[in-house]
Amino acid sequence: MRYEAQGIVSLELVPLPPATRLPAFSAGAHIDLHLPTPKGELIRSYSLLNDPRETQRYRLGINRDAKSRGGSSHVHEQLRVGDKLAISAPRNHFPLDESAPHNVFIAGGIGITPMLSMIARSQALGTPWTLYYSARTRAHAGFLDWLESAAGSQGGRVVLNFDQEPGGRMLDLAAIVAALPTGAHVYCCGPIPMLEAYEKATAGLPAERVHMEYFAAKEAPATDGGFSVELARSHKTLQIPAGKTILDCLIEINAEPPYSCREGVCGTCEVKVLEGQPDHRDLVLSDSERAANDRMMVCCSGARSARLVLDL
Ligand code: FES
Repeated sequence: MRYEAQGIVSLELVPLPPATRLPAFSAGAHIDLHLPTPKGELIRSYSLLNDPRETQRYRLGINRDAKSRGGSSHVHEQLRVGDKLAISAPRNHFPLDESAPHNVFIAGGIGITPMLSMIARSQALGTPWTLYYSARTRAHAGFLDWLESAAGSQGGRVVLNFDQEPGGRMLDLAAIVAALPTGAHVYCCGPIPMLEAYEKATAGLPAERVHMEYFAAKEAPATDGGFSVELARSHKTLQIPAGKTILDCLIEINAEPPYSCREGVCGTCEVKVLEGQPDHRDLVLSDSERAANDRMMVCCSGARSARLVLDL
């Protein structure tokens, strides 16, 4: 564990002997940590920040969330060097398009973590990159030494912005987007107001060049109820009442898939849809994945049809 900035620690996870390697990951991937707290196990997703060529370790950066529901405060207060943790295999909902001629990264606060691994990958590919990194103050911005040396070694560019320092202001996303190098792909991860401004600023760009990752829900979960869910493998049928999500009802009968954020941002609870039309509320699936109607996040999404059949 390492202190990185005010409120941010990084963790380095290594496999327990005799293993020496962890599953390979791609830039932008995340893993789930299974945190054993006195109130039971919490599962929380965090981006991997190290170079994807490193499979002897995973590195994560964890911000102590002021509104922590127990995950980040457990890491900051209880977790100690040498502790053993169970983790999931890496998954990636925020992949780097490796064909881009230039990558532009926009990070707010702890949203820097997936960008670090993407920058390492850009360097390995020889793709020029620019990072706009906004934090409240310099003391809140982690990983600056690494960023400076990465930028210095291969001609990447880092633009820092501290919005709560005297004279500070929010990043001007419209200006950044207007000045994008030709054909550049742009990536953003940060707090919701930043992502909303980013979506607005990039509305005129081709969708395949615009990438973003939310780490908190934007929409309320679907809790209107009034539909049925058939579980194809266990041959059970549930009526989803108002006030509950599909996941709530699955937990009640011990038929739940693995889950973590319960907000539609981590992708852990993804389930195959065999019939019916989901009402997607997650931030994981792309528009085309949503339209395919073949999978859904049961923690937050509901149904547009009277009946859903799930592969559970
Ligand atoms: S639990 Fe994270 S998307 Fe459903």
